Amino acid sequence: MVSKHLDYNSVDIKKAARFSVAPMMDWTDRHCRYFHRKFTKKSLLYTEMVASAALVKGKAFHLLDFSNEEHPVALQLGGSDPSQLSEAASIGEEYGYDEINLNVGCPSDRVQSGEFGAVLMKNPKLVAECCEAIKINTAIDVTVKCRIGVDDQDPYQVLPEFLKYLSDAGVTRVIIHARKAILKGLNPKENRDVPPLDYPLIYEMKEQFPDLHISLNGGVKCLTEAERLLSKGIDGVMIGRSAYQQPSEILSNVDKIIFQNDTFISTFDIADEMRDYLQDHCENGGSPHQVTRHMMGLFHGFPGAKVWRQHLSNAPKSNNLDFFDKALVAVRNAVNMSAA
Ligand SMILES: Cc1cc2nc3c(=O)[nH]c(=O)nc-3n(C[C@H](O)[C@H](O)[C@H](O)COP(=O)(O)O)c2cc1C
Repeated sequence: MVSKHLDYNSVDIKKAARFSVAPMMDWTDRHCRYFHRKFTKKSLLYTEMVASAALVKGKAFHLLDFSNEEHPVALQLGGSDPSQLSEAASIGEEYGYDEINLNVGCPSDRVQSGEFGAVLMKNPKLVAECCEAIKINTAIDVTVKCRIGVDDQDPYQVLPEFLKYLSDAGVTRVIIHARKAILKGLNPKENRDVPPLDYPLIYEMKEQFPDLHISLNGGVKCLTEAERLLSKGIDGVMIGRSAYQQPSEILSNVDKIIFQNDTFISTFDIADEMRDYLQDHCENGGSPHQVTRHMMGLFHGFPGAKVWRQHLSNAPKSNNLDFFDKALVAVRNAVNMSAA
């Protein structure tokens, strides 16, 4: 296996973690991350969750493929067997990922039956053992994405205990989805909206664990809100759904507002650059839809957004990119007409 590591060190990653795009199953695949990277060079991107068993037992290494342009990029692993996670993490490091993140937040039945994800909030000792085992085998940062608790747990009691276990295991960075997960009775989608958010608890955790880099996740819908949270002393903000659905509104301004870096690329330039990527992808046997399905929200808020989505929804299976060119012409026309 050839290492593709680009020498992102711990300091760079920590800086990048000031703003991250959340791991989202079926959404943040390599094409989506490549697309997101066009908007922001500075932030940290996460893979979808990859089960450690899929790598170690299933040898599904194709799940790890990514483009160099995606750096800095973190691999999120799901699992609860320390030695298997350790092996999976070292494969991830070999592939060139810049961070290994352990999923302690997913409430799906499938994940629960594998005894990983959010159910691990009940077993902080095992989570600590998993992190220690990963750390022994890898030199890159090991982080955890967790909830504030599950079911009838009292977050004000369990979260500090959980974070103490992690700190003692040498974990220096966590991402906290600031709501509980309800393991029985709510599906994963409901578990992203129904249990109420508790941001003050996260501020309190930052006070109790000043040396731990804490990112807040959950319900952040704009950069003004992200800035407000950072001004409260939180070290990082992670955004999921809004970044995916409105990438131009959220991600275009991240480098400027969060990282004080004044480079800017227009939405139309991003569309043009993605066309090149799309062409390469199709020439290598991929279908356009695999890439364009992540680009539905590119022109969200623009005149012509609807017609853009319609053209993209009709992406053909063949590698003919006429639909993409027509979609772009339609949006340009709509923008010009509304400006006239
Ligand atoms: C479609 C979808 C898939 C998700 N898959 C994962 C996942 O694989 N791993 C994970 O830790 N969280 C996953 N999440 C949860 C998000 O990472 C995030 O915690 C959640 O959406 C709350 O953030 P938001 O309000 O900014 O969207 C997923 C969310 C969505 C919408």
